[in-house]
Amino acid sequence: TDPKRIRNFSIIAHIDHGKSTLADRILELTGLVADRDKRDQYLDRMDLERERGITIKAQTVRIPFTAADGQEYILNLIDTPGHVDFSYEVSRSLAACEGALLVVDATQGVEAQTLANVFLALDNDLEIIPVLNKIDLPSAEPERILQEIEEAIGLDCSEALMVSAKTGDGVPEVLERILRDVPPPAGAKEAPLKALIFDSWYDPYQGVVVLFRILDGFMNDGQRIQMFSSKKEFEITQLGMFAPEPQRVNYLGPGEVGFLFASIKDLTDARVGDTITAASNPTATPFPDFKKIQPMVFCGLYPSEPSQYEPLKKSLERLQLNDAAFNFDPETSQALGFGFRCGFLGLLHMEIIQERLEREFQAQLIATAPSVAYQVTTIDGATFTIDNPSELPAREQIEEIAEPYVRMEIHVPNEYVGSVLTLCEEKRGIQKDMRYMTSSRVIITYELPFAEIVFDFFDRLKSVTRGFASMDYEVIGFFPADLVKLDILINGEPMDAMSTIAHRDKAYHRGRALALKLKRTIPRQLFEVIIQAAIGNKIVAKERNAPLRKNVTAKCYGGDITRKRKLLEKQKEGKRRMKQMGNVEIPQEAFMAALSLD
Ligand code: GTP
Repeated sequence: TDPKRIRNFSIIAHIDHGKSTLADRILELTGLVADRDKRDQYLDRMDLERERGITIKAQTVRIPFTAADGQEYILNLIDTPGHVDFSYEVSRSLAACEGALLVVDATQGVEAQTLANVFLALDNDLEIIPVLNKIDLPSAEPERILQEIEEAIGLDCSEALMVSAKTGDGVPEVLERILRDVPPPAGAKEAPLKALIFDSWYDPYQGVVVLFRILDGFMNDGQRIQMFSSKKEFEITQLGMFAPEPQRVNYLGPGEVGFLFASIKDLTDARVGDTITAASNPTATPFPDFKKIQPMVFCGLYPSEPSQYEPLKKSLERLQLNDAAFNFDPETSQALGFGFRCGFLGLLHMEIIQERLEREFQAQLIATAPSVAYQVTTIDGATFTIDNPSELPAREQIEEIAEPYVRMEIHVPNEYVGSVLTLCEEKRGIQKDMRYMTSSRVIITYELPFAEIVFDFFDRLKSVTRGFASMDYEVIGFFPADLVKLDILINGEPMDAMSTIAHRDKAYHRGRALALKLKRTIPRQLFEVIIQAAIGNKIVAKERNAPLRKNVTAKCYGGDITRKRKLLEKQKEGKRRMKQMGNVEIPQEAFMAALSLD
């Protein structure tokens, strides 16, 4: 295809502003998705994504389109993931485009992710087309929201499009506007091959699937390619594009978007952000800013039965094939035995991986409470990073502990400013800025310890602002803090898997709350269970669960048999997720108790 007839674009939006619905309408309007294939959110392929209603992996689709003037065009719609955990993937998807539709919900206005995505688009020099969505709703306030976009982003909205992705109103105009305003790709066919990997995943039948955008040069089926960062070479075994189902092609030229298979076994050989070039004539200048993404949140994953260790390992290996941002290493816990320390981009990423493990691999898991990484400097001058609180050296060895901080922007209607400030102060935040985006909406900037927001920050923020706040954050580095290790002992035995690191000012209170919570989550046993929290050698809290004497079913004696059976079944259900530690049975929830302390 002549590059002049190609348009590569993304849709960017805050969560729930209607990105997927608009993509669906575009596919429908261009006749690409036949009625019988029609299903909501066509681009969200994985079941899990559909259930959660979020887009995790970038997907792309090639849309042939006949414009009003009768000319044929190719529109490549490159979908981007919507959550802050995946912002690097968003940025790479945008780098594969020349333009972006900025979808803003006309009943909601500019939110934190709207701005964050706009900045990523501007960083990539994209043409941004403002699109007001949901204008079918009676509560839509297009005039006010357009003004908000102009003020907050500085984007000219005089020609903003008004659409209802739900009814399809205004969607044809969106397509014509893409043709008019998004520049065609500018690559040179004669230059050495340079293609950007903006997504890759593992397919059990084909190996690694690579999605790419060609900037310069061209690609032929069967040709030898080189990955710029590793210099590893592969031979293309299949070249293709999504139309929207995979379709094989022999050749792709500059500006085109496609996929390839090349017998790549390991996802780390085809990392998002890397440059593909030709083995025979490699480019000298790769795409800038290729980075290996670092996990920020860690937790232990243990099989509930020791015999499940190998199956769990296999499952983790398979999952990693599909997610280069997820990593794991073997670890041993005195309390839990053999398991794995796993690293994630953020909490959402962690939840998704855990869910996939249980769903796709039927693994029975004990997960420990998540933790961030800490930088420890010892008195003999060594500095290293730990991703498990139990690795913290003895107190007298430690010179300094530093923890990761984030810079966070929170968008909120002004009546909730007070509650947000209170929350951020409680989370040890340092206020950096506060400005009015409009007379009624405020952007508050804080620097906060990452550990404080990993847990329940987002839920708390939503609840103190009745759902009206949105946020976005980036990690800014490690800063020293007065941190201590909080240990849990059960019947005198330290439970290493329950250790956490806390700020000294909060550790005492936290220890007491945690012990109490554990008392409530650990069921009574046939013997007395003593739960203690300790900071160093000092016990700061002690709780006791009295021994249980009676059989659970005893109280139904003589009663209804189905009720008795139900009770027994319930007991069995609970047991499945228990972990025997010494002779105490501890349910999965207990390991997560640290997550839900007030
Ligand atoms: P993420 O993929 O989670 O980022 O969300 P999204 O931006 O793709 O939003 P999605 O398309 O899932 O839409 C969110 C909700 O808004 C859904 O319930 C849609 O049915 C609804 N919605 C989308 N567009 C419109 C619209 O034009 N009018 C109305 N009334 N509802 C809409």
